[in-house]
Amino acid sequence: MPKIKDIPKIDRPRERFLQKGADALSKSDLLAILLGSGIKGKNVRQLSENIIKKFGKKFLNITVTDLLEISGIGPAKALQIVSAISLVKRFYADEKTNEKIIKNSQDVLSLTYDLRDKKKEHLVCLYLNARNSLLKKEIISVGLLDKALLHPREIFYPATELNSASLILIHNHPSGDSSPSEKDNQIVEKIVQAGEIMGIPVIDFIIVSENNHYSFYEKLKKQKDGFDYVADGIQGTLFAMFEAEKPAYEITAEKIKENYFYIPQVKENHIQLHNRRYIGNKHKLIEWIFSIINKECRGNSFADIFAGSGVVSAVATKHFGKVLLNDFLHSNYAIYRAFFGNEAWDKNKIDSIIKRYNNIYGDDLEDNYFSKNFGGKFFSKNSAKIIGFIRENIEENKNNLTEREYYMLIAALLYTADKIANTVGHFDAYFKKEFVNDSFFMKPIDPIDAQGISIFQEDTNVLAKKIKADVVYIDPPYNSRQYSRFYHVLETLTKWDKPKLYGVALKPEPENMSDYCRNNAKDKFAELIRDIDAQYLVVSYNNTYDSKSNSSRNKITLHEIENILQKKGTTKVFEKNYRHFNAGNTNFNNHKEYLFVTKTKHE
Ligand SMILES: C[S@@+](CC[C@H](N)C(=O)[O-])C[C@H]1O[C@@H](n2cnc3c(N)ncnc32)[C@H](O)[C@@H]1O
Repeated sequence: MPKIKDIPKIDRPRERFLQKGADALSKSDLLAILLGSGIKGKNVRQLSENIIKKFGKKFLNITVTDLLEISGIGPAKALQIVSAISLVKRFYADEKTNEKIIKNSQDVLSLTYDLRDKKKEHLVCLYLNARNSLLKKEIISVGLLDKALLHPREIFYPATELNSASLILIHNHPSGDSSPSEKDNQIVEKIVQAGEIMGIPVIDFIIVSENNHYSFYEKLKKQKDGFDYVADGIQGTLFAMFEAEKPAYEITAEKIKENYFYIPQVKENHIQLHNRRYIGNKHKLIEWIFSIINKECRGNSFADIFAGSGVVSAVATKHFGKVLLNDFLHSNYAIYRAFFGNEAWDKNKIDSIIKRYNNIYGDDLEDNYFSKNFGGKFFSKNSAKIIGFIRENIEENKNNLTEREYYMLIAALLYTADKIANTVGHFDAYFKKEFVNDSFFMKPIDPIDAQGISIFQEDTNVLAKKIKADVVYIDPPYNSRQYSRFYHVLETLTKWDKPKLYGVALKPEPENMSDYCRNNAKDKFAELIRDIDAQYLVVSYNNTYDSKSNSSRNKITLHEIENILQKKGTTKVFEKNYRHFNAGNTNFNNHKEYLFVTKTKHE
């Protein structure tokens, strides 16, 4: 274990602070300075990394008792940290009482006085909270103000980030004349409309010159009463401007309101279902998908038959009384049993097991199946030893765990392994470079609170003949990339039958190879749709068919999907611009995500 004195001087936190300043240091480096020294077997950097990782965003609310739980932290060090935090909070609170409330244009002008004698045109934005207190002053652009060049995103993106309730824009005219030009009028109109749609009103737009200013305030106030008129046509152009979804041909200019926010579980220091890298997962499209499902479909049961990461099912539990999840991967099945299961489990037991696991150090361990195969490749040697040791320990302890607890520990280990893997997110290859993340730290999972869940691990076409649901969501793979090969390390870790591994990427014998990744995909899809008993079929599709890369090219075309679905019932299509996973060889610009909704001819 390297001691801090073994680290070259320039890499030591104190030396770096003195030479380059506080900004050059990470949070854990700063904490290391505060702690001063480590303990036997753990240098001060590892100790501070453990603390930062364990408490994350909760760091500022840390208590002495919390800190005493960490091995290596005694009362003196705990007090040191908590006192430093309290001190900063006090100063911060004093600072807050000096907050700047904007009551009128004079307040704005005093905050932007420097703009009057600028030689170039500037556009500055003041972001305000609900009490009109200034959250941030930001320069949006410098140079000639041009409607065509200024995108509302530049103004509203920081507003959404800051959770701003309203904003004020200030623009200078170096010419000395503060009266608005035609371009100014056009820009004000465009931004104000965008603000209305975003729900972040533009309170004022002020033009300043050396001795004068012009405020749009009165004009905007009058306009506000008339804002209900925001007509379809205008909405259309504004939404195009924001690259929002364009419903395709069936639903004309109607906007699909994305108001079914997925409220993920909020327990801090826990793993949430969506905290993993999974190709094709729909986490970022979830509001769009459910806005459509809730508008187009009726019923009480939902089946997610290619469930993947499970994020679609998680949201379905908020809208449907019964939810079925299916995927043929072992790792996905374990994750569903952990997050969605309804069997009993003991929180204190899981927490204390995980706490013990986090105090294991690779240096103290012998090599094991996992480290011999994957150490120094997909994971650092150290992390691989810990992962293999823990997996073995879960198996040995199986009799002392309920099934739910067993899967909860495996799921926590799978997510942790994914987080520190030296990969782009799947296990087809690993980086040759140094290990970016060599710090194993396991958190418990935060299960989904829902009833009426059934979990399957079957080939979808076989399962389809046996089940029935009001809404069936279908999201198969569409290209030749086999999920079981991509996630083979997680499969091996879950099954733990220690198979012989082959090739550079150390894959086991093939298992769960999907027909949807083969040339007969279209026939398999047609068979599935024919067999499925549902009121509504909801099918996700993305148009990678024209891709230059062979493995990214779709095995089924958009039209083939459409034709197959038309036979089953009335079909509508929705589309959305979306950026997809790209391993580097493929140009995915302009690729779209489609959602087909078929109301079946139900006998
Ligand atoms: C595109 S992903 C689904 C992504 C998922 N909707 C999400 O949000 O994470 C397709 C999934 O189908 C599974 N799969 C592929 N062929 C299958 C088959 N024949 N039977 C069961 N599952 C299959 C894969 O393991 C993969 O997890």
